[in-house]
Amino acid sequence: MTDRYCVFGHPVGHSKSPAIHAAFADQTGEAIDYTAIEAPLDDFAGAWRAFIAAGGRGANVTVPFKEEAFRLCEVLSPRALRAGAVNTLILGGNGQSNDLKVYGDTTDGVGLVRDLERHGVTLAGARLLVLGAGGAVRGVLEPLLAAAPASLVVANRTAEKAEALAADFADLGEIRGGGFDAISGPFDVVINGTSASLAGDLPPLPDDLFADGATAYDMMYGAEPTVFLQWAAERGARGVDGLGMLVEQAAESFFLWRHRRPDTDPVLEALRRAL
Ligand code: ATR
Repeated sequence: MTDRYCVFGHPVGHSKSPAIHAAFADQTGEAIDYTAIEAPLDDFAGAWRAFIAAGGRGANVTVPFKEEAFRLCEVLSPRALRAGAVNTLILGGNGQSNDLKVYGDTTDGVGLVRDLERHGVTLAGARLLVLGAGGAVRGVLEPLLAAAPASLVVANRTAEKAEALAADFADLGEIRGGGFDAISGPFDVVINGTSASLAGDLPPLPDDLFADGATAYDMMYGAEPTVFLQWAAERGARGVDGLGMLVEQAAESFFLWRHRRPDTDPVLEALRRAL
């Protein structure tokens, strides 16, 4: 029987994950079936159990179920434990019995770091600014700090949330949190992890934010550059949107399930053309 995978979300109709994983499967010759499933808001666990009963071997999890998925995992990766959320569920055994356990991992942060690498951004020794302090940002801080930046500042509309987040990750590196008013540049890499772009909003940012040759990264993407990327371009920064992060996090999930690493470049190019 073909191994089944899916992405759970609500809503999930516009998810690009089925197309991405179909492309990965084609490329690697892995026989998998990957669909999008809209789980009921009040019964994510039930949807996951039903999926396993029907031959499901693993899943991606997106808004708003990442924390709930975290809670049903029996084994969690260290990075998922830090994030308090998972985007990848893996049904697996320990190789010694038929006992299948639910493993949880989060691949968003690795996806972001790989996409930055693809664009030639050096994180080691760089001055990093991350905007936002919600779940999306919490999920990427560990891999960012593991890349050994000189410093990492988390700035958020609600300053206390950024301060609390920085305190949670302080053992991993040089990290500080505060409000937008406390931002003092320049920075080599500025990552927008707020959902402000969704509303066409821009966080209040100082004009001298960017160092020479700086990169502005928005975790959001669309056919047109986000408000943040437009603002950054006007100030001389190079802009990168989050489409590559989406493809890279998918590739890492695919690797966790199938132990094969797909080539992400052609998949990203095809998605870009279809935006
Ligand atoms: P996500 O899972 O996308 O991180 P979230 O946990 O709701 O979603 O977090 C949303 C983030 O975007 C928060 O950092 C939020 O700031 P607050 O903590 O002050 O709410 C930020 N955000 C949302 N809309 C914003 C706006 N218009 N301007 C600035 N920040 C905004």
